[in-house]
This record gives sequence, C-alpha cells and structure tokens, in this order.
Amino acid sequence: MANLSVTVAGVLFKNPVIPASGVFGYGREYEKLFPLSKLGGIATKGTTGQPRPGNPSPRIAEAPAGMLNSVGLQNPGIDAFIANELPNLLQKDTVILANIAGSTIEECVMVAEKLDATDVHMIELNISCPNVKQGGAAFGVHCDSAAAITAAVRRVTSKPLIVKLSPNATSITDIAIAVESAGADAVSLINTLLGMCIDIETARPVLRNNMGGMSGPAIFPLAVRMVYQVSHAVTIPVIGMGGVTSGTDAIEMMMAGASAVQVGAAIFQDPYAPIRIIDEINDWLDAHHITDLRQIIGSVQLW
Ligand code: FUM
Repeated sequence: MANLSVTVAGVLFKNPVIPASGVFGYGREYEKLFPLSKLGGIATKGTTGQPRPGNPSPRIAEAPAGMLNSVGLQNPGIDAFIANELPNLLQKDTVILANIAGSTIEECVMVAEKLDATDVHMIELNISCPNVKQGGAAFGVHCDSAAAITAAVRRVTSKPLIVKLSPNATSITDIAIAVESAGADAVSLINTLLGMCIDIETARPVLRNNMGGMSGPAIFPLAVRMVYQVSHAVTIPVIGMGGVTSGTDAIEMMMAGASAVQVGAAIFQDPYAPIRIIDEINDWLDAHHITDLRQIIGSVQLW
C-alpha cells in the first residue's frame, strides 16, 4: 500500500480523490453506499446567499463521451447548508470543501463570511458556472473581475481559498495568475465547457436553458492540458478535474501537475467511482514500485 496522502494549501488529504461539486450533493445519498471517510475530500454543491430553484428542466443531456448540464446552481442557500448539512459532513473524517457562488461580489463575500465562522476546512470559490445569467463564469473569464472577486472573498476569510476556474476563458493561465495575485491559496480546474445539443426532430435545443456545461471523458485531454499549463504558470497548488474516470486518469492528471483530483460525471455512471479510483491509483503505484504518490505530481517531462 503506497502513501496516497497529499497536501493542498496546507490541508492534509488522506488520498487525492474528491467528488466534484454538483455531482455529490452533500453526501447524503452516497453515505448509504460507502463510508465517506474513504474519500480524500468532498466538494459540496455550490451554495449561494439565498435558496435557488435552479434552471427549468430538461437540464441534463447525454452527449458523446459525456454530458451537458444546466442545473443553474440549485441549492438551499448558505443558512440551510450551515444548519442542516455541514454538521453531518464535518463528522465524516474527510476534508470538506464548501463550494460557493453568487450573482454579485457582495453575495459571495456574505457567503464566505458565514462559512468563515464555521469549522469547514476549505472554501472553493466558483467563478466558472456557465449556467447562470449573473455571476458564475462572468466573473471567471476576465482577469480583472476574477481578481476582484477573489480579493474581496480573501479579505473576509482565513480559510484556505481555492478558486475554481473556467475553461471558457480566452486564457485560463492568465486567470490563474490573476487569482493567485489576488490571494487564492489554490486553484481548481477545469469547470465545464459551454456546449449545446439540438433535437433535430423538433429543431430545439435539448436543454431548456439552450446551452449547458459539458463534462465527462470527452473533455479529459483538454483538462490535462490546462492543468499542465496552469501548474507551470502559478506557484499555488492545482486541483485537477474534467473527465477523470479511472485511477490511471488521476495519475495522468497528477503527472500534469495536479496535487489532487476531483471526480465529476463519472459518479453519475458509477456511484462507487471515487472508491474504485482510489484503489486503482494504489494498484498502479504498487505495480510501478512507487511508495509515495507525491513523487508523481508534476513529473511529466516534455519531449
Ligand atoms: O448549473 C450548475 O449548477 C453548475 C455549476 C457549475 O458548473 O459550476
């Protein structure tokens, strides 16, 4: 058994595998399947200042080698999250990353302030949701707005602050540099790529919101490329995500420079995917006589 522990922004994870925000809710359904303590961490569903019903249905569409979603940040709001979900999560002996979002900088600041007063381990600031009219990716595709919201949240919390980046920016590397300068302790990438599916019998988009975020294996090589580029442009740690489906995908993303990985769409196909991926990482390390996972982080050598 290799040492699978990793450290991100001073926080120790027992292994690098984290269900991504939005695919794992608050863990209630999954704790019936396996002990959540097996996970490196859990990124909770994006939480906003007030409850949100999300976008109208249909808001999920299958796509080749992946899926589109336009959930629209459905969540019960920060007060309900802190009162009803966080206490249960904090008992699970795993790192809790509270993913936060908002339509305005002020809303994100208010949510972060409330979380700062809790025992949550890390805050993941989502500036990359492609499915909302205000806020979301609008913050994350320009360096100025990405830096401004990061700096504002930074001022109100001493929790380790991860900023979740959008692949829909012209240069995700420039955004990463901007949020690092504004006080981010880590970045996570990539959120989904804006996509569209059309029902050719009705000539209407499949999603009621017309467009949505693409995730799944189809985006994996794009994510690996961006993780590689960002991890070479910033000094803060990178959490990689985007189409990770297997232990070897996780190893690949860590060789590109990720210190930990989030698993998203794969969980919809196989709810045990995070547990399987942890086992597969260990098997690969054993087969290659590597005793410490940290040895492979950023180990890719370009031709
Ligand atoms: O629509 C959604 O709730 C998705 C959020 C995200 O991709 O960050």
